[in-house]
Amino acid sequence: MNVPTNLGFTVKDIAKAVQRRDVIIVIDVLRCCSTIVTALANAAEGVTPTKTVREARMLHNKHPEFILAGERRGIKLKGFDLGNSPLEFSPQNVEGKHIILTTTSGTKAIISSENAKYVLTGAFLNAEATAKAAVRIAEQERTGISLISAGTNGRFSLEDFICAGAIAKSFPVDIIGHSDAVLAALLAFKQARQSLNSILQSGYHARYLVSQGFEEDVKFCSQLNVFKLVPFLNGETIVPLNGSLLFY
Ligand code: MLT
Repeated sequence: MNVPTNLGFTVKDIAKAVQRRDVIIVIDVLRCCSTIVTALANAAEGVTPTKTVREARMLHNKHPEFILAGERRGIKLKGFDLGNSPLEFSPQNVEGKHIILTTTSGTKAIISSENAKYVLTGAFLNAEATAKAAVRIAEQERTGISLISAGTNGRFSLEDFICAGAIAKSFPVDIIGHSDAVLAALLAFKQARQSLNSILQSGYHARYLVSQGFEEDVKFCSQLNVFKLVPFLNGETIVPLNGSLLFY
């Protein structure tokens, strides 16, 4: 079977992917999707994304036992328990806890995809696992796969584009039909692979994060295939994808 793959960057691209009934992989390497997979790998119970800070605070008012996390301009919000640094989402901070997360672009892209049956989140940290799970689902559902680069504030982002290539690298070549955009991302990943951290540091959002003291985050998020966990949007909450849909 041929599984068509696409790469999108905008809310319109998300709407088209939902219409096609594609499996959607939202990518936000710096840092939303890296944070989500780290939190779940460190045994957080689930992550509920919200578009706005207000929604996050309202949900927290209803559930004060939840951890309130997120950023604007990369910085932890006033009164929040955690920011959006994956390094903060340690087992000590998150094990067994439910997290509310609001970020500038990543959580918005996830929520914009919520009408799709399968929304996964991908990063370098779980690129291979995400690719394999997406292919397994797409084959079962007889659909395509849309990689969605969340970018930052509507801007194209180098690290998300290269990560789309890292994920596409793990799609089996015999069953996948790539769009030109996916092929371009694959080529970019092949070129960047040996020096991911330094290439990612040249991107504008990474330079901004470094200027705010988050150099360790950029390094952490540049690691490839550290986790086999695949975050999956189940209703309003992101949980680890389990069972037969998880390929390895
Ligand atoms: C976002 O969602 O735009 C990012 O995760 C921002 C950040 O680096 O905190």
